[in-house]
Amino acid sequence: MNNFTITIKTQFGLEPVLAEELKALGVSEVEILNRAVQFTGNQELLYKCNLHLRTALRVLKPMVTFQANNERQLYERVRDIRWSEFLTPGHTFAIDGTSNSEIFKHSKFIALKTKDAIADQFRDRYGKRPSVDTRDPDLRINLHIYDRTCTLSLDSSGQHLDRRGYRLSRTEAPINEVLAAGIILMTGWDGSEDFIDPMCGSGTFAIEAALLARRMPPGRGRSFIFEKWRDFDAALWKKIRLEAEEQIQPFEGNIFARDLDKPSLDMARQNAERAGVADLIDFKQEDFLKSESANNNGIIVINPPYGERLEVEDLKEFYGEIGTRLKHHYPGHDAWIISSDIPALKFVGLRPSRKVQLYNGSLECRLHKFELYRGSKKGGGE
Ligand SMILES: C[S@@+](CC[C@H](N)C(=O)[O-])C[C@H]1O[C@@H](n2cnc3c(N)ncnc32)[C@H](O)[C@@H]1O
Repeated sequence: MNNFTITIKTQFGLEPVLAEELKALGVSEVEILNRAVQFTGNQELLYKCNLHLRTALRVLKPMVTFQANNERQLYERVRDIRWSEFLTPGHTFAIDGTSNSEIFKHSKFIALKTKDAIADQFRDRYGKRPSVDTRDPDLRINLHIYDRTCTLSLDSSGQHLDRRGYRLSRTEAPINEVLAAGIILMTGWDGSEDFIDPMCGSGTFAIEAALLARRMPPGRGRSFIFEKWRDFDAALWKKIRLEAEEQIQPFEGNIFARDLDKPSLDMARQNAERAGVADLIDFKQEDFLKSESANNNGIIVINPPYGERLEVEDLKEFYGEIGTRLKHHYPGHDAWIISSDIPALKFVGLRPSRKVQLYNGSLECRLHKFELYRGSKKGGGE
């Protein structure tokens, strides 16, 4: 099988977690980039990455890198590529453009130029051109410009990989699936201790934890655009999917999903059913501020409401009460709190042992870890 470069996009802060995930797929040499990682692989690995990686957003296969000093040069270089290897006039395509450049400032415009170059090549050669479909194209092309360096890649994923296919219903402020999985992997949870999401909303953390615990591939319930590629190897893909099904394990541990709000909890349960993990999660309507721990240890992940999206009367008091409840009622646990309300996190009133900068979509967040010791041991409180 031919080797080629594979670039995987992820969210800011999750690059090292993604590199660790790749190790489990047998990739030892990974270059960590900004919101991406890169390595050498083959078609089999490309398919596996789409199916298995929990913290990947898109799996790209770079085709060509060139320098361009202006839009005309960009247009001409794109037009030089033999697009008939990938497309016919009857196909549809879409371009995603990202740019970090003084020359090419508008990513929408560079995507438009690229689209024109491809369409013009077909019109000149065949008198017909493939049409654009931004929602469900046959071929998705990614153009990335850094300064004058332009890289064109084939996007093998299609829809972003955080679209696992299980979440049709969303609460007001859902956490992105890729971010949720990344946080769970960061906590080091291995299924032997309790996993607790006391403010579960649409259930993302609990569902991702259950998928992880059973080694269920996150891409199990969806399709990928590489299945429409001209070189698609259906037999190889079938083999990879079968192997993945055989790796699924039973899980006997505890995953607790709680929320004050009944409709959110119903939504979380429905999402878990769609993901095929509802039987692994213990759902209950409960006020965290009145809750008790079930066991002596566990991993707690809390994504509390925050000012920007949800109305909370007094954020300061609320975050303070979360800290007090953790300290007095969850000794022996590790608590991880993620919030885009960064100032509010200090109202928790406990000393974090770790702080991580992350993004939920475009919202900057902080993830703070609190180690809640028992008895008189230092830490966990101020
Ligand atoms: C930001 S949302 C969580 C979103 C969730 N991570 C998801 O992916 O959908 C915060 C949730 O906290 C819940 N909540 C607020 N106060 C609570 C409390 N005292 N106890 C339990 N849940 C609470 C809200 O009902 C809301 O669903």
